[in-house]
Amino acid sequence: MRIEILTLFPGYFRSPLEESLLGRAIGSGLLEVAVTDMRLYSQDRHRKADDEPYGGGPGMVLMAPVVAAAIEARQDVPPAWRVLLTPDGRRLDQALVENLAQRDRLLLVCGRYEGIDERVRELGLLDEEVSVGDFVLSGGEAAALVLLEALSRRVPGVVGRAESVERESFVRDRLDYPHYTRPREFRGLGVPEVLLSGDHARIERWRRARSLERTRARRPDLLARRPEEPGEAEEPQAEGAKGRLQRSSPID
Ligand SMILES: C[S@@+](CC[C@H](N)C(=O)[O-])C[C@H]1O[C@@H](n2cnc3c(N)ncnc32)[C@H](O)[C@@H]1O
Repeated sequence: MRIEILTLFPGYFRSPLEESLLGRAIGSGLLEVAVTDMRLYSQDRHRKADDEPYGGGPGMVLMAPVVAAAIEARQDVPPAWRVLLTPDGRRLDQALVENLAQRDRLLLVCGRYEGIDERVRELGLLDEEVSVGDFVLSGGEAAALVLLEALSRRVPGVVGRAESVERESFVRDRLDYPHYTRPREFRGLGVPEVLLSGDHARIERWRRARSLERTRARRPDLLARRPEEPGEAEEPQAEGAKGRLQRSSPID
């Protein structure tokens, strides 16, 4: 997958694109990311990219000739799917991530200030508009990074075990189950007995039941999208303990 990012602040992406999973995905060629400074497409000798809004009012507006020229110049062959990050776009969720992940090439346009001149939209230079939530960021860069990270997890090979991606929150309209690791006891709290049992079938049933329980409690709207399945709430046969988090008994 190739992703091109258009921004006024290319330096913003330097460290996030080098770190952790994203850095490794790019380093190994699974993901190709290019960041382009939109100012390069300004006709102004001072590389001006924004101007005052017609009609007055606060803030500045990203100029249409700059954004349009950047989009057109960075368009690939075959063409990339052109996405504007904007608070009035379609709200990002896992379904939209899955959908965008089907595309081989994406062009992400980051706004700044009051946003971009409306004529970039009117000219049909964008294919989709995406919001990362009902709040306002200072620029599209953080939003582009959110989308990029979510997309990268859907590129085969980026996350070590494909299984871990398939099971995490939202992928199947369920929240994730609780996780525990060493130490076995922490501040008097132990680990659910079932997770120490080595019985994979029981562990699997426990996790499914906890996922469902957490989804019911925190995000019942997800259950409307994919109703509870027969046996999903079924607790594994308890071996002494109920498989819930318990105060720990002393560990031998
Ligand atoms: C300060 S915001 C512009 C806000 C705009 N005047 C409004 O009220 O909707 C500047 C830029 O940040 C980006 N941005 C801000 N909030 C965002 C969000 N929730 N999702 C995606 N992009 C966002 C967009 O690219 C936007 O053009």
